[in-house]
This record gives sequence, C-alpha cells and structure tokens, in this order.
Amino acid sequence: MALPAGVPETHPAVVTTAPRAPLSIISCPTQAPGAGEVLVRVEWTSSTPLDLHRADGGLAITKYPFFMGSSFAGAVVALGPPPPTALPPLRDAIRELHVGDKVFGFTPPAAAEGTFRTYLTVQVWAVSKLLPQSKLTLQEAVTVPTNLVTVFEVATTDFGLQLPWPIPEGWEPPQAAAPILIWGAASSVGLYAVQVFRRWGYRNILAVASGKHHDSLRALGAKACFDYRQPDVLDKILAHVSRLESSGPKVPFVLDCIASTEETLRPLAKIAERGTKVAILLPVIYVHASEHNPPVYEGDVNKVLVDEWKEGVELRGTRANLYHEKSDFFRDHLQPEIVPTLLEQGVVQPNKQRIIEGKTLLERAQNALNTLRSRAQSAEKLVWRVADNE
Ligand SMILES: NC(=O)c1ccc[n+]([C@@H]2O[C@H](COP(=O)([O-])OP(=O)(O)OC[C@H]3O[C@@H](n4cnc5c(N)ncnc54)[C@H](OP(=O)(O)O)[C@@H]3O)[C@@H](O)[C@H]2O)c1
Repeated sequence: MALPAGVPETHPAVVTTAPRAPLSIISCPTQAPGAGEVLVRVEWTSSTPLDLHRADGGLAITKYPFFMGSSFAGAVVALGPPPPTALPPLRDAIRELHVGDKVFGFTPPAAAEGTFRTYLTVQVWAVSKLLPQSKLTLQEAVTVPTNLVTVFEVATTDFGLQLPWPIPEGWEPPQAAAPILIWGAASSVGLYAVQVFRRWGYRNILAVASGKHHDSLRALGAKACFDYRQPDVLDKILAHVSRLESSGPKVPFVLDCIASTEETLRPLAKIAERGTKVAILLPVIYVHASEHNPPVYEGDVNKVLVDEWKEGVELRGTRANLYHEKSDFFRDHLQPEIVPTLLEQGVVQPNKQRIIEGKTLLERAQNALNTLRSRAQSAEKLVWRVADNE
C-alpha cells in the first residue's frame, strides 16, 4: 500500500543512544499500514517515568538507538485492511475507524516503535477512538492509555480480581469490601486505580498521597486517605487497618505505585501479612534518577528487602507492557472498546496536564525528561506537542 498524498516519506523520531546521553533525532521511513495496522499523524504525547527509566537507566533496552515514547494521540491518516485471520473484535475495530478520526493509545513494544515521532504505524488493538460524546481533547486523552491499561493488568493478573466487561447490571464483586491500599494514589497510575476499583464496586480503597490531594481522592472514591509526608503515616495506617474486621489479612491487596525500597516498600513490609498480595510497579527503585545521580533499579521483586517481608506475603512485579500477550480478551477489547467507553461515560477522568514547552520536538522531549528527573509532577501528566509549527 502506498502512503496517502501529503504524508512524507520520512519523519523525525526521538531516540536515546546511551544511558544519560542527551536525546537525539533520527529520520525514519514512514511505514504504510499493513493488515491490522493504522497510520496516525501524532499530535500529542505524554512522558512517563518509564521514559526516564529507559533514558537514564537503559531499562529493558537491548539495542541502541532506542525509539522513545509509549503513548500517542492524533489523527488517522491511513488504514490497513483487516488482518485475514482476525476474529470479530479486531476486525470490527479496524472497520469502525476512518481517516480523520481522532485516536489515542498505549503502545507496548510489540505494537509499534516509540511514539515520540510524527507518524506512527501501530496495530489496531493498541488504538482507542476518541468518541465525540466524551468531549475530551487529544491533550487530555493522551494522559489516559498507558496507566489505565496498567490498572487492568494489576487488578486481573496481579490481584486476581474480577473486572467483568461489560459490567453486568447491579454487579457487586465477591470481595467488594476488601481493603485495597494504594500507595502513591496521586500518581497517574494511582489516580486511575482509585477510579477503576471504585467503578467496579470495590468500596474500601485506602489512598496514600500528599495531604493536598486528599479531597480530590475522596471525591474519586477513596474511603480513607493518609499523608506519606507526615512522619507518623505508617502508625496511622496500621492503627486504621487494625480496626478492620477480616478473617484473612487486614489488607489483602496493596498497590505500590512508587516502588521505592526506602519510601514505599519498607513501610509496606510492615503492613502486608500472610496472604496479602502486593503489586509493585516495576522497576523497583533503589536510587531515583536525578540530575546528579544515575538510577539504580531491580527487576525482581523477590530480591528486595528479602528479610523484611512476613512469611506468606505474595509479591507481584507488574509488567503492563505484556498485557496483550497475557489475555486475548483484554488485547481485543481494552484499548479498542473499554478505554473509550469509560471516558465517554465519564467513569474515568483524565489526569491533569502539565504542558511541556520547547521550540522543537527534540527540545520538548528533552525538557520533559529533565522535568521527570526533578520529580516535579504531582497528580498530573507531562504532555507535549509532537509536531512543530502548530
Ligand atoms: N511496570 C509497569 O507495568 C508500570 C506501568 C506503569 C507505571 N509504572 C511505573 O510506576 C511508577 C509510577 O508511574 P506514574 O506515571 O503513575 O508516576 P507519576 O504520576 O509520575 O508519579 C508522580 C506522583 O508520585 C507521587 N509520589 C512520589 N513519591 C511518593 C511517595 N514516596 N509516596 C507516595 N507518593 C509518592 C507524587 O505524589 P504527591 O503529588 O502526592 O506528592 C506524584 O503525584 C513509575 O516508576 C512507572 O515507571 C510501571
């Protein structure tokens, strides 16, 4: 298939060439979409801590240059035919897309090569349509996919909880009252986790975040909030959970959205009991990347604080970028259908945005990375324009 008129043969893409090297630009051939693929003109992207883990820590990079970025929002410029073997959900998904549609998505490595580029060829299962009824902008939508997908991965793979889709009328989960502790509830993942668990009927959500976010977390569905910046936060959480009635562990589900050995895992080791499932968003961080320090990471949760966890605590290292390999149902339905519907229904609110400025694509990508190094984002997502001159 030839490229449509007006689409350039080559386009710029942002790459990292070595750990902690400044980012650079490579000119890439624009790929016409094959069967089951969509060609998108990318208008907005978002930078997440994963970009920092990759750029400064070389996380999961096996070959340089490495194409950066995992979320995109833009307009469809060309569509490939449905894949010959596709079953209805994906076949229908590609038929329901049209040139000019606004779309957004999260691209695990198997779906595309980096989203910090102006033209992206991506598989249809990694594309959500921005439904006009949702009244959202691309800038808002691009905050959603990566971390909303992550929450489904945590809930179903790591916790083994049910998130049936469509949600049956009057459905109540078997463990509706079970406490779910979310440490880092004001992070992007944490904010989506509170909203998803609440929507599926889990009503005992305990949120750990800066005090300034507690009102908004309660409004989203948190039942109790704790301020991690207070020195007695652990005592307060332990006092709260000691009053909970339970035949098993007081807190059966813990989501660690920060995964820092000192800041989160060490206190969580004092809360988790036999039978508690602790989902830890990989990588575990020994040292955060900063202007002066390279990061130190660990990919195996069972090697961290080994002597501090109580016997029988079940540690899970979350890897959302493999979600499409673990579940055919979520590969076929999550981004094509569930994500757009949750936004359209207002069940999930996008993260607030901090717009990263810069004169060029490269400058904006680098400025976003520098902002991540300073850990300046608070209950917000770093978003920036991909194409220049707009
Ligand atoms: N492995 C996977 O599948 C996967 C998927 C997604 C994300 N992740 C990882 O998960 C982590 C979070 O990602 P994200 O995009 O959600 O992060 P983010 O939004 O950039 O996180 C920023 C937030 O972290 C909070 N925070 C910082 N230190 C904290 C602490 N000690 N205790 C509680 N909250 C703290 C801050 O909360 P306040 O504003 O309250 O101070 C801030 O709002 C990253 O390391 C990312 O790479 C992994």
